[in-house]
Amino acid sequence: MGAESFMVISRPRVILSAAVSLDGKIATKNKDSTLSSKQDKIRFHKLRAKVDAILVGINTVKIDDPLLTVRYTKGKNPIRVILDSSGVISPKSKIIKTCHAIPTIIAVSQKISKKNLAKLGKYPLKIIVAGQRKIDAKKLLKILQKQNIKTILLEGGGTLNWEFIHKGLVDELIVTITPYVVGGKDATTLVEGDGFSKIANSQKLKLQSITRQKNEIVLYYYI
Ligand SMILES: NC(=O)c1ccc[n+]([C@@H]2O[C@H](COP(=O)([O-])OP(=O)(O)OC[C@H]3O[C@@H](n4cnc5c(N)ncnc54)[C@H](OP(=O)(O)O)[C@@H]3O)[C@@H](O)[C@H]2O)c1
Repeated sequence: MGAESFMVISRPRVILSAAVSLDGKIATKNKDSTLSSKQDKIRFHKLRAKVDAILVGINTVKIDDPLLTVRYTKGKNPIRVILDSSGVISPKSKIIKTCHAIPTIIAVSQKISKKNLAKLGKYPLKIIVAGQRKIDAKKLLKILQKQNIKTILLEGGGTLNWEFIHKGLVDELIVTITPYVVGGKDATTLVEGDGFSKIANSQKLKLQSITRQKNEIVLYYYI
């Protein structure tokens, strides 16, 4: 990438990262998202170790119960940021169970009930309020920037990916194409939401590089 390609942006740099099936799904209709190979896990855990924070939507936490840590390589855990407007994250989730050891932020909106706010307040985590009903992604990024978060890995799911894509808040996409054809109109795709009505409304990305990992390929696109 040439130096002239970098734009000065007043928010953290956002890298969208996902593993997709050959037909663009990130999970099956039954929400099975185990698409990544061990080799790919090593690759994206190295990436996790380089960023300041990882962002995921509350559905991903409810469905996958992820840890969002660096495990397949050595490195520092990034700050985990969960977008959960109503603050409904389960106390039994791995995120809450490990928040004493791994820095964790729960982003909520003003619609959160006093009860849920009080419940979250019992844990050693940071709560950020951004937005009235829905979390305002732009506002949240600004707040995170003020907390010295410069690079963010957006790890889905599809609903959150759309929110960031259509608001122009994604700078890079790193997508692993895995050797599965999943099918199903109810399977979750890389980007959900309303979608653009015209191709011209979608930003044309630039392909920076491609790497082959045995039976998979990793695509590196930037905006
Ligand atoms: N293959 C992969 O790489 C990969 C990676 C990640 C996830 N996944 C899969 O993706 C699936 C989950 O995806 P999903 O689309 O259902 O859900 P999601 O994107 O994980 O979460 C969506 C939820 O986030 C909350 N949210 C808070 N603020 C938001 C905002 N500003 N914009 C949009 N959402 C916001 C909303 O719930 P509230 O309004 O209640 O807060 C929303 O319903 C799971 O099956 C998971 O396994 C796959």
